[in-house]
Amino acid sequence: MTLVNLEFVAKDAVKAVERGDVIIVVDVLRCTSTVITALANGAKGIIPVKTVREALAIHGENPESILAGEINGVRPIGFQLGNSPLEFCRRKVRGKKIIMTTTSGTKALTKSKEGKWVLVGAFLNIEAVADAALRIAEGEDRGMSIVLSGKRGRFSLEDYLCAGAIVERLSPKKIENSDASLASLLAFQQASDSLSNVISMGSHAKYLESIGLGVDVHFCCRQNRYSIVPYLEGDMIVPLNMKID
Ligand code: MLT
Repeated sequence: MTLVNLEFVAKDAVKAVERGDVIIVVDVLRCTSTVITALANGAKGIIPVKTVREALAIHGENPESILAGEINGVRPIGFQLGNSPLEFCRRKVRGKKIIMTTTSGTKALTKSKEGKWVLVGAFLNIEAVADAALRIAEGEDRGMSIVLSGKRGRFSLEDYLCAGAIVERLSPKKIENSDASLASLLAFQQASDSLSNVISMGSHAKYLESIGLGVDVHFCCRQNRYSIVPYLEGDMIVPLNMKID
């Protein structure tokens, strides 16, 4: 039986690392949705960093790479791309290394990076990431943790619902839920018929809508658009090359 845990905010990723769990980092709006889309469109890899300053320093050493990310939802000055998954089309990202910094998502990723297995999940790849995480956890006799990035250290509705969607995909015969992961499953089941409407009621979705990025919210609510599973290999997120039966 694989024990499924859930951490509610980015800083608690370190607890999942301490447990030795297979980690799935989730930031539906929008960091992990963007990472998945970028890799699905052929990006070579994504280096998540905590600050703009760090991103600029790494870019200075890799001038052929692309700087991407956001501050308050908006592309920082001097960056080529923001944090909208729709910007990361094949024409712009194919074969490119991307240095990315965002408010909470890249923090959850960097806080997780001491973990042996750090996978990247969102609604866009629920089935693929759930299957891969369970398979690794079973193969190595580890637990699994879904780490919600949240927003500025606080809980996010959309990440919680995505955790529930991931848990729903896992065979109940193979897992034992913590109370938190079970609650996320119940919440997802309650919301699933009108997922994008429910997520649109959340504070970050409302904020994105208010700055003209409502289209991103709808895109990020699409389920299983991609079968790619990004994972951290050293400092860079690349596609996991693994056959899932
Ligand atoms: C974050 O990492 O906090 C988000 O991806 C913010 C955003 O929507 O750009």
